[in-house]
Amino acid sequence: MKRIFAIILMVNLMALPLLAQVGTSIVNTPHNLSAGGIGTIHASSEQQICIFCHTPHNARPQTQLWNRNDSASSYQIYASHSLKALPGQPTGASKLCLSCHDGTIALGSVTSENQTIAMVGGITTLPPGSSNIGTDLSDDHPVSFTYDPNLVLLNPKLTSPSQLPTAISLDANSEMQCTSCHDAHNNQYSNFMVMDNTNSQLCNSCHISGPTNIPRHAQCASCHQSHSAPSGPYLLTGSTVFDTCARCHTGLPGSGTAPNLSADFAKPSTHDTHNAVDLLTPLPNNISCSDCHEPHTMTNTVASAPNVPGNFGTQSGVNASGISISSVQYQYEVCFKCHADNAAVAPLVSRQIVQNNTRLEFNSSAISFHPVQSAGKNPNVPSLKAGFNTSSIIYCTDCHNTNSGTTAGGSGPDGPHGSTESPMLIARYDTADYTNESASAYALCYRCHDRTNILDDRSFKEHKKHIIKERSPCSSCHDSHGIASSQGNANNNSHLINFDTAIVFPRKGVMEFNDTGTYRGNCTLVCHGERHDRENY
Ligand code: HEC
Ligand code: HEC
Ligand code: HEC
Ligand code: HEC
Ligand code: HEC
Ligand code: HEC
Ligand code: HEC
Ligand code: HEC
Ligand code: HEC
Ligand code: HEC
Ligand code: HEC
Repeated sequence: MKRIFAIILMVNLMALPLLAQVGTSIVNTPHNLSAGGIGTIHASSEQQICIFCHTPHNARPQTQLWNRNDSASSYQIYASHSLKALPGQPTGASKLCLSCHDGTIALGSVTSENQTIAMVGGITTLPPGSSNIGTDLSDDHPVSFTYDPNLVLLNPKLTSPSQLPTAISLDANSEMQCTSCHDAHNNQYSNFMVMDNTNSQLCNSCHISGPTNIPRHAQCASCHQSHSAPSGPYLLTGSTVFDTCARCHTGLPGSGTAPNLSADFAKPSTHDTHNAVDLLTPLPNNISCSDCHEPHTMTNTVASAPNVPGNFGTQSGVNASGISISSVQYQYEVCFKCHADNAAVAPLVSRQIVQNNTRLEFNSSAISFHPVQSAGKNPNVPSLKAGFNTSSIIYCTDCHNTNSGTTAGGSGPDGPHGSTESPMLIARYDTADYTNESASAYALCYRCHDRTNILDDRSFKEHKKHIIKERSPCSSCHDSHGIASSQGNANNNSHLINFDTAIVFPRKGVMEFNDTGTYRGNCTLVCHGERHDRENY
């Protein structure tokens, strides 16, 4: 074989038309570096094409009749938090490519010639720019690692090597190389790709990603680039996940129909995804878009509480028992990654019973709770508006959401990306003492609880007096989440009663609500200077 190739090569060097015998012609590609080459980079006078890479004489053993020295560079290698493969310093055919493409060896430096072949414009090595990928390979698709069934066991989102299309090949050592994606002789698909990458067919031949029904998200190149990727790890087109998504989701030119979130990101209360630069550090304090939206499996399928919406994709989370799961069923399980046992935010209202683990606050065993995980405990909630009843389940995002989305009654995109109402509330909720009651001051609660009904004292007979006359905010008496079973009891903490200790004070050491039956109870406390001793309603 070697001899036959040597003969073909010899003939080719003399007779250009016969080149067609070696695959599709290299002549009309940027790899024709001879003086007749079509690219901007070519020799001043050298007429031979193959010589820049091959020689029939004194060839080096790397591949058939190789005519170049290896680069002496030491490379930075791709790494990421999720990578299972073990890429090392480049091996095999990757070294052949890098003998030009790392930019350290002159293009015209070949072992068969004593002098470096001169290039037009005095070019020696590949100039800085897209084709010079440098010696830092940490921002390039990994190469020079074993891609075998063991790797597929570690990462089931890879195609088994035996199932790869014939256009894609691994080398004799089962290693993936530059040549798994590129063919130096054939530019019919441009960029010397081994196959057409329209609709990401090349990527999808090895990676099992998706499914998504959002066409722009089905294109790997919407978010990834194979070389010199700004993010390094994960090969993203932006330097962070935020920047990657923001290219389309902040209304920049070319964003098409992508919802524009820029207004929300500028609001005071956000899930601050901007600073998530360190992609090697995992949860919980490195929040990014992909902590809620799994980039590859998002769909536009809508859901109802408590089910996870399609646009979260196959997302990881923490379930009601506190166990990490790789695929959530309910939306709150995503929030629990960071707001349960990993409490990312401290409570904002100073309460008699302090709890920052929302998993315990909303647990079905909790004393009283808003019905996020399971239907609530109180069969008598006369204030509920049409559309809600005591069997309803609601989302965290029914309260924590942008205040300008369609759910809030606006026209912007939905989601807990930013709100002018802290802590990321869908509507205003005043918690300061001496708040004047109005439809807007407690707009959050009045989304689901009828204002007139509350102020008509249907349940708590002193609602109107406290809320309007005493100007006590709802939060002075009510927790908005729930009271964990280990902390409260059904006598003192039913009806979400958990006093704000900045407003309510103990009376002779006691600060207590007692539930004495339907629409009946009493309180012992001091508030606004008023003393209650088992004061009944
Ligand atoms: C820009 C560099 C470059 C040029 C120019 C080049 N080749 Fe190659 N060639 C390679 C590389 C790299 C390999 C090794 C591929 C591998 O290991 O998969 C190779 C391998 C080969 C092989 C072995 C079979 C194969 O495809 O792996 C043949 C035959 C071959 N080249 C013929 C030629 C001929 C004939 C010319 C001139 C018309 C030529 N090459 C020009 C880079 C080049
Ligand atoms: C002899 C030096 C040399 C070797 C060896 C070499 N290349 Fe190139 N390659 C070039 C030059 C020169 C260009 C044109 C660069 C330019 O115009 O910016 C180029 C261009 C490319 C391009 C861009 C094509 C385009 O349409 O713009 C790709 C992709 C590429 N090479 C891949 C490879 C791969 C993969 C290998 C190894 C299998 C390889 N090259 C080996 C010199 C080389
Ligand atoms: C997983 C597939 C894959 C592997 C492996 C791969 N490339 Fe690429 N390469 C691509 C794709 C796809 C492009 C087209 C541009 C893009 O999408 O980023 C490309 C483009 C290029 C370019 C054109 C300039 C640019 O940056 O766009 C060069 C040069 C290049 N590759 C060289 C190499 C070399 C050298 C290696 C091995 C060290 C290599 N490639 C490994 C997929 C790959
Ligand atoms: C020849 C098979 C093959 C092709 C084609 C291919 N990849 Fe890969 N890719 C792999 C393998 C194998 C890994 C290593 C996966 C691992 O270790 O879990 C990988 C790793 C990656 C990684 C880094 C994963 C991590 O966990 O850090 C990204 C991102 C990636 N590929 C994107 C792409 C994109 C985009 C394309 C299309 C341009 C592509 N790949 C084409 C085989 C391929
Ligand atoms: C909408 C943007 C987006 C698109 C489109 C996209 N990715 Fe990703 N991908 C990401 C982000 C962001 C990460 C970083 C990890 C994370 O945050 O979950 C990632 C990570 C990866 C990883 C490594 C970790 C993992 O989840 O396995 C691979 C491999 C990968 N992408 C391959 C692909 C392939 C192949 C395609 C095309 C079929 C693709 N991606 C399309 C955004 C995207
Ligand atoms: C190349 C542009 C582009 C990039 C980059 C991009 N998207 Fe999108 N995204 C779109 C388009 C277009 C839509 C579809 C809008 C429509 O349905 O008309 C969309 C829709 C969405 C949706 C809504 C799905 C629904 O209908 O409910 C979410 C969520 C989303 N993208 C999140 C992300 C995240 C997270 C990232 C980054 C990891 C990202 N996108 C990156 C273009 C993009
Ligand atoms: C990956 C971790 C993570 C996930 C998942 C997450 N959050 Fe957060 N959340 C945070 C961090 C960190 C902050 C603090 C952000 C800051 O201060 O910029 C925060 C802040 C908040 C705040 C308070 C905002 C303020 O202004 O103080 C609310 C409310 C909130 N998140 C609700 C949710 C809800 C609802 C979900 C589920 C849909 C959720 N979070 C999912 C990490 C997360
Ligand atoms: C019925 C409305 C409502 C629901 C449902 C709700 N929250 Fe809240 N949340 C609030 C309000 C109001 C506050 C402001 C502080 C307060 O009232 O105690 C708050 C505060 C927070 C804070 C800031 C820290 C703190 O405790 O003050 C976080 C984080 C938070 N909620 C996360 C969640 C998560 C996660 C869920 C779902 C598992 C959820 N919330 C469900 C209304 C709600
Ligand atoms: C998204 C709708 C929604 C919002 C917003 C909402 N609630 Fe509720 N609330 C409900 C539902 C549904 C129930 C019935 C639960 C049950 O039957 O126990 C309920 C029950 C209650 C109860 C009775 C709990 C019990 O166990 O007796 C109180 C008190 C309460 N809400 C106060 C508030 C306050 C204060 C706000 C504003 C911070 C608010 N709610 C916002 C839906 C909501
Ligand atoms: C804390 C969780 C969380 C984070 C972080 C997050 N989102 Fe969302 N996003 C949501 C939720 C919840 C929705 C609304 C889901 C539903 O009900 O359809 C949403 C909706 C969207 C939508 C669709 C809006 C519409 O109305 O069609 C887009 C686009 C989107 N998110 C993009 C992003 C981008 C880009 C980032 C990062 C900058 C991001 N999200 C970060 C939770 C999150
Ligand atoms: C002074 C304490 C206090 C304040 C302030 C207060 N509540 Fe209540 N609320 C109660 C008590 C006590 C109950 C239990 C009544 C019973 O026995 O069923 C209750 C019951 C409720 C219920 C469940 C029954 C029903 O009426 O549907 C809702 C909802 C509710 N309050 C909403 C609010 C809202 C909204 C605000 C602020 C606008 C508010 N509360 C202010 C003490 C208070």
